Amino acid sequence: MVQKIKIIKIFIIIFSLIFPFSTNAQTVEEIIKGRKALFSKNYSTAKRVQTFASKGDFVKASSLMKEMSENYLTLLEYFPDNTKEGFKTEALPSIWENKDEFNNLMKKSSTDMIELAKAIESSDDVRASLQKFMWANCKACHSKFRKPH
Ligand code: HEC
Repeated sequence: MVQKIKIIKIFIIIFSLIFPFSTNAQTVEEIIKGRKALFSKNYSTAKRVQTFASKGDFVKASSLMKEMSENYLTLLEYFPDNTKEGFKTEALPSIWENKDEFNNLMKKSSTDMIELAKAIESSDDVRASLQKFMWANCKACHSKFRKPH
C-alpha cells in the first residue's frame, strides 16, 4: 500500500514536470471569451476616453488611455494557434497567416494610446487626435482581421 502511494506520488511529480503549466492553462473557450470581453471593455473605455477628453478632463482621460494601452498588450497573448475557431469567434484566419502584421498593429495601437495621453492636453483639435491615435486603429485592424458585420 505504502509502495503504491509512493509510485503515485512519483507519477504526479513526473507529470507536473512534463506539463508544468497544465494546471493553470486556459481552455480555448476561456481564451476566446476572454479576448472578446477585453475588446468589449476597450470599446466602452474608448467611449469614456472620448467623453472625458471632449469635456477637457484630461487627467481622467489619460488614465483610461493607459489602461487601454495595457489591455492591447495583454491581448497579444490571446491569439494562440488553437483558438482559430469556435465559441462565436469573429477572428479571421488572416490573423494567423499574418501574425507579425497583426501583432505589430496591436503594439502600435498600444503605443498610440500612450502618445495620445501625452499629446491630448496640448492638442488644438481633440476630436482629430482621438480619431488619429485611437479610433483609426480599431478600423485598421477590424477591416483586415475581424469578420465584417
Ligand atoms: C490589432 C487588432 C485590433 C485592434 C487594434 C482592435 N480590435 Fe477590436 N477586435 C479584433 C479582433 C480580431 C476581434 C474578434 C475577436 C473574436 O471574436 O475572437 C475584435 C473584436 C472586437 C469587438 C467585439 C467583441 C465581442 O464581444 O465579440 C469589439 C466591440 C471591438 N473589437 C472593439 C474595438 C475597438 C473599439 C477598438 C479600438 C478602440 C478595437 N476593437 C481595436 C481586433 C482588433
